[in-house]
Amino acid sequence: MAKIISFISRKGGTGKTTNAINLATSLFQLGKRVMLVETDTNYTLNTLRKMEAFKSKDQKPGFEIVGSQDEVVADELIKIKEGRKMDYVIVDSAGKTTNDGIKKLCLVSDVVIVPTSLTQNDLLVTYQTVTDLAPAQELNSGLKILILPNRIHSGTGLHTVRESLKNLNALVLPVIVPQKNRFINFSTFHAEKEYQPVFQVILKYLL
Ligand SMILES: Nc1ncnc2c1ncn2[C@@H]1O[C@H](COP(=O)(O)OP(=O)(O)OP(=O)(O)O)[C@@H](O)[C@H]1O
Ligand SMILES: [Mg+2]
Repeated sequence: MAKIISFISRKGGTGKTTNAINLATSLFQLGKRVMLVETDTNYTLNTLRKMEAFKSKDQKPGFEIVGSQDEVVADELIKIKEGRKMDYVIVDSAGKTTNDGIKKLCLVSDVVIVPTSLTQNDLLVTYQTVTDLAPAQELNSGLKILILPNRIHSGTGLHTVRESLKNLNALVLPVIVPQKNRFINFSTFHAEKEYQPVFQVILKYLL
């Protein structure tokens, strides 16, 4: 059955979309059956996919990217999990997700990844996000909550990152996603080579 990996944060702009697409393309490149579900109603990944497919008509088919909405995504995921032969469903959730939306999504997810930078504001929101997820984790005991340090300036070591995130009641992934333009100008078809070190670490936690 498919594993559901949800990118969640109570704040916009923490890196959910950037990391969701980089993870999805990396898994796809590895030969996994991947689907990406986006609940941000701007549906930017759907739009990018269409633009990329239009520009290069001889493109091999990529993985499916589907749009959903906060209120219905959990029910849709249950159906996808039961009905479709997938290895991984990656959920890129919207920045403005309701408490109820987050809770329901956590109940159907296997892994929740919370990206965060080290700015004070991001850290406070991440603390709040993890606190809000705790009740869902009690109901869904298999749920893994992982913090992903994102947009970290070069020169900031893992030790410093860990120190900044030590008060969070969740596992901090032992990897850093640096602040890099290569991660912003992503493709929905091709995996970014420079994301591979991050991908290899995340992959261990998805098994
Ligand atoms: N590792 C990174 N390096 C450089 N820029 C990044 C990185 N991660 C995110 N960004 C940039 O930060 C901004 C927000 O990232 P992104 O869109 O992934 O966040 P989000 O959590 O999906 O936001 P929203 O909640 O609005 O959907 C974007 O402009 C993105 O290009
Ligand atoms: Mg986004």
